[in-house]
Amino acid sequence: MSASVTKERPIEQVDESLAAFAADVHADLQKQPRQLQPKYFYDALGSHLFESICHLPWYLITRAERRLLEEHAADMLAPLEDLTTIIELGCGSGAKLALLAEGVRKRARPVLVRLIDISATALDLSERTLGRLPHVSVVGRHEATYDAGLREATQPRPSHGSTLVLFLGSNLGNLRPEVADAFLREVRSALRPGDGFLLGADLVKPEKDLLLAYGDPLGVTAAFNMNLLDRINRELGGDFDLGGFEHQPRWNADASRVESHLVSKRAQTVSVRDADVSVDFAEGESIWTESSYKYTPDNVAEIGAAAGFRRERQWIEPESQFSLTLFVAE
Ligand code: TRP
Repeated sequence: MSASVTKERPIEQVDESLAAFAADVHADLQKQPRQLQPKYFYDALGSHLFESICHLPWYLITRAERRLLEEHAADMLAPLEDLTTIIELGCGSGAKLALLAEGVRKRARPVLVRLIDISATALDLSERTLGRLPHVSVVGRHEATYDAGLREATQPRPSHGSTLVLFLGSNLGNLRPEVADAFLREVRSALRPGDGFLLGADLVKPEKDLLLAYGDPLGVTAAFNMNLLDRINRELGGDFDLGGFEHQPRWNADASRVESHLVSKRAQTVSVRDADVSVDFAEGESIWTESSYKYTPDNVAEIGAAAGFRRERQWIEPESQFSLTLFVAE
């Protein structure tokens, strides 16, 4: 075995995911408009940069959500009968689940937790955060995309009690509407009537606030977005000149989304050796890396209803206009 073999990830799997990364970069850079997929933001550095974004005074989502979870954890869990399992899709640092789990601190038996995240760093952080809590027992760690992870985490289904699936932050907002609809139907089909689904969704707010949240004056968001190009250079033998691109958030009112772009400052050619692709960029041409959809409270309820959930309760943090909705599977 080579020195780079780690406990969690055998070397073949690393190779396989590098090949998938290369294939995606190959296809996405040749699309019009040019694109890269946001799931590739979260290497070790990207995960830490995202944690930093969450501390910025202009990106309120994480703190707003924390406030709601702190205040209402017990109310959020109360409607779920004999809750035995919590599954989090995109667990990040695990801090949110820890707050929510305060709502079951007094129970005799620990709540079983399964974590799903694309980032090994995020899973490590979460396990460390949650491992200390006596009322929580982490029984599953799934380094996977949402759908694959959800399939793994719900089979076999727990023999008794109800399950709560968490899809927090602005995770929903990063999915195109038709993908979001299909994904929520998948969540519903993995659950049984009476199970819960707690969904975070950022609400529409003034454009200037949205643009600051996705383009902070300290440049942390720019570094986060730009790290994707550097990651391609490091892992796939790319020759992106980072100085030749700039981060640009755009509010697309018709689609109700903030788009994050990396705009080429000049005409230039970029090659990515291991992705077998070479691309000519015109001055001003962009690579679209992520969309963050923004909703109204009723939008969120409708999206849930279309997937077979009823809105049990909804909490809105007034200052940031961020919402958490507890759905119950019908
Ligand atoms: N996915 C998160 C969101 O939409 C993360 C994020 C914050 C982000 N700022 C960003 C993604 C800038 C891309 C670019 O809120």
